[in-house]
Amino acid sequence: MPSNQKKTNNANAELYNPPSQVVSQANVKEYEKLYQLSLDDPSGFWGERAEELEWFAPWNKVIDDSRKPFYQWFVGGKTNIVHNALDRHLKTARKNKVALIWEGEPGDTRMYSYFSLNREVCKFANVLKSLGVKKGDIVTIYLPRIPEQVITMLACAKIGAAHSVVYGGFSVEALAERIEDAQSRVLITADGGWIRGNIVKLKDITDEAVARQPTIETCIVIRRTGQEINMESGRDYWYHDLMGLPIAAPNCPTEPMDAEDLLFILYTSGTTGRPKGIVHTHGGYMVYTYTTLKYVFDIKDEDRWWCAADPGWITGHSYIVYSPLLNGATSFMYEGALNYPYPNRWWQLVEKYGITILYTAPTAIRGLMRFGDAWPNRHDLTSLRLLGSVGEPINPEAWRWYHTVIGKGNCPIMDTWWQTETGGFMITPLPITPLKPGSATKPFFGIEVDVVDEDGKTVTDGDEGFLVVKRPWPGMLRTLYKDPDRYKEQYWGKFKGMYQTGDSARRDADGYVWVIGRIDDVIKVSGYRLGTAEVESALVSHPDVTEAAAIGLPHELKGNAIHTYVILRAGLEGNDKLVEILKEHVGHELGPIAKPESITFVSSLPKTRSGKIMRRLLRARALGQPEGDISTLED
Ligand code: PRX
Repeated sequence: MPSNQKKTNNANAELYNPPSQVVSQANVKEYEKLYQLSLDDPSGFWGERAEELEWFAPWNKVIDDSRKPFYQWFVGGKTNIVHNALDRHLKTARKNKVALIWEGEPGDTRMYSYFSLNREVCKFANVLKSLGVKKGDIVTIYLPRIPEQVITMLACAKIGAAHSVVYGGFSVEALAERIEDAQSRVLITADGGWIRGNIVKLKDITDEAVARQPTIETCIVIRRTGQEINMESGRDYWYHDLMGLPIAAPNCPTEPMDAEDLLFILYTSGTTGRPKGIVHTHGGYMVYTYTTLKYVFDIKDEDRWWCAADPGWITGHSYIVYSPLLNGATSFMYEGALNYPYPNRWWQLVEKYGITILYTAPTAIRGLMRFGDAWPNRHDLTSLRLLGSVGEPINPEAWRWYHTVIGKGNCPIMDTWWQTETGGFMITPLPITPLKPGSATKPFFGIEVDVVDEDGKTVTDGDEGFLVVKRPWPGMLRTLYKDPDRYKEQYWGKFKGMYQTGDSARRDADGYVWVIGRIDDVIKVSGYRLGTAEVESALVSHPDVTEAAAIGLPHELKGNAIHTYVILRAGLEGNDKLVEILKEHVGHELGPIAKPESITFVSSLPKTRSGKIMRRLLRARALGQPEGDISTLED
């Protein structure tokens, strides 16, 4: 262990002090005092952060809680997140700075300066306008990890349209449901995307989804993989054709937006079968994502930031697309799989591009760790200064490997706890924070968290309880799209005045938070968020299945894996072939990440007298644990 780290037995965990070279250049040098100030005077704290960005008209109130839990931020303020992400930089030397470096899986590369990124965004914004897209419309984007993800999202926001990005790993029904809920008329997709040398046939999936949800009038297709695809005349247009027309003029004014105007909807899994449309707005989300990245990952002009997530998830929205640009940073984006063609692909990229900050998920770290140290050791990784983790609790073994083998003991790991709903990091170290492997450490500025019992009372340090947030913050979701009642009930209904996260956690004697995991019917599979109910309804949509139950069980690489129990239609027998058919079916409807690890055929499922499947009991049985209270069991 390098000399700058002290190993102590504090609250049962090793403690890693940050190296002095990291501390000396940190954007924030002190936590406790500033944290207290941010709680004592939230309007002052967030108002000052917002003033670092440009506004067309100032706000008259930083926070309005008169309609809680429908909080509003920067009320009366006019801005546009794209004005701050792009336009603002064009007036400075950043105009010529590299905004985005991209490498495709086959090894092709592209680079955009702030100037050229803005130009593409303006051109596509004009294309959208010519198609009649206007303020308030919701455009669905279904793409692989290519620069057009970023360009098309920014183009929507620029003209005041909202985007609904559907992760490129989702499939037919997942896409159809999201199109339907958003009532999108315009969809942006690609012929395909590269993954492990294979083509994901996005356009075929799109065609099937659009057949189920015919609200789509125009489909814009980016040519990525080049194979023959179906192009429906009058509906489907090639992106490059449209971008070559005179309508795609290189200048486009940025639409002034109200701080509380809709920026995007991002669907995420909850406790029912239908995904929830999480609503984020221009003003608060902008200030929050800007500040969190700047403080937590210590973003500097000379950094090369790599957030290895997908823009289709919140991590990508906030920390690939918006926040790096708001901070004027240089971002790197990679299309493909982490171990293709060899397990050193990522390390090769870190070396080739001189990445200084790498932000990824525990599942990726575990996946790379299993190939051994020789692969990363072949590469010069000394450009790295900070590392990051997100998506699920990181097991201390993976933490140590990441810290020692990748970071050579010199790079603190920012284990950031947050959610689609929170917009940005909530519980997270700063580069100056002493770290304990497996703990996301302490709340970010302005964030007041607690661990409470069933009655909403703070539990004793060390005890497990519900993780809650006790006051609003600028990056919070504003509501659920078209479902304000569910927003109120689901997030603010359980404990008075507290936002319920759906996670359980523990706090130790040093005030460090240890997130344990979901306590609702949400499963984190390889860091991806899936609802048990979504998997169940995908299974039941197969004609042979009458009922299904899905649970998450621990998995060495994925964190959790989906295990399912299925009741077949009367007269049918389960067999290995049917298991494969049903797995494929779930993959086809939802996407490969949702394919169950196991399918067990059963004749009945444990249910409460009111008919709810007792997943808790299925889990306990599968793990050989005590079954707990089964007094509500029907049979
Ligand atoms: O359970 C927590 C887990 O991921 C959930 C949120 O998932 P999602 O909305 O998809 O957003 C993921 C990326 C922000 C949380 O409720 N989670 C996220 N980060 C961590 C985590 N669990 C433990 N430690 C983390 N750092």
